[in-house]
Amino acid sequence: MNEATGSPLLRVEGVSRRFADGDVQALDGVSFSASAGETLALTGPSGCGKSTLLSLIGLLDQPDRGRILIGGQDLARVRQASAFRARHLGFVFQYHHMVPTMTLQENVEAPMLALGLPRAARRDRAAELLQAVGLAPRAGFLPRHVSGGERQRAAVARALANRPAIVLADEPTGSLDSRNGQRVVELLITQARAEGALVLVASHNPEVAAALQRRIALRDGVCVADDRERLRPAPPQGLASVFSSTVR
Ligand SMILES: Nc1ncnc2c1ncn2[C@@H]1O[C@H](COP(=O)(O)OP(=O)(O)OP(=O)(O)O)[C@@H](O)[C@H]1O
Ligand SMILES: [Mg+2]
Repeated sequence: MNEATGSPLLRVEGVSRRFADGDVQALDGVSFSASAGETLALTGPSGCGKSTLLSLIGLLDQPDRGRILIGGQDLARVRQASAFRARHLGFVFQYHHMVPTMTLQENVEAPMLALGLPRAARRDRAAELLQAVGLAPRAGFLPRHVSGGERQRAAVARALANRPAIVLADEPTGSLDSRNGQRVVELLITQARAEGALVLVASHNPEVAAALQRRIALRDGVCVADDRERLRPAPPQGLASVFSSTVR
């Protein structure tokens, strides 16, 4: 997978997904690849297949045809999806999904339990991330005692806790006003890039899509545009090499 050999971190190859329920072809032969450090928007109207595609990349669902490789590993061969997700993927949803009885600090620490990190390491990492998203003063607050924008910034911190290779965000600004939404996206981009992660954001908001380097447009489950060639940053080292040593 690694950047030195030029292999992309993520490869989506001719992926299709049909839902028998409702007889819907949600995805129809979608292909693209993306590298560590890229920020990529999945755009298109409601029902075009954005969330379905993120679910497949996030091992929450399986394609009927085609395959998806992360770090060279075919997801169809992953035996323990939850362990793979915890180690390699971060998720941000439209609604924050914070555990209501846990403080922001505890919520950000939670994914690190799956990796068996010692308490002190979890605490330090969560504190560092909450600081980075401007929430250090709110670390001890319960989710219901902070604003919607703050909750979503905490969700960004939580998604990055395990230094994922890929961050998947499905309409991460959907519950926020435009100013707070923009701040969340900026933080997501800045933090994920600082850590060398690939960021995939599904959004029908053009402002959100414009903030990312690259846009893939879907219509009726088909990829109709990909402005990949517009901007090619130098890929960071960091996670790409870490990932290749852990995933195999
Ligand atoms: N579990 C499911 N069962 C049946 N049909 C589904 C299921 N999930 C999605 N679909 C259908 O697949 C198509 C793609 O849905 P998807 O949720 O991926 O769209 P989307 O681009 O994320 O839309 P939105 O912008 O509204 O979130 C839609 O027609 C949807 O109704
Ligand atoms: Mg969706």
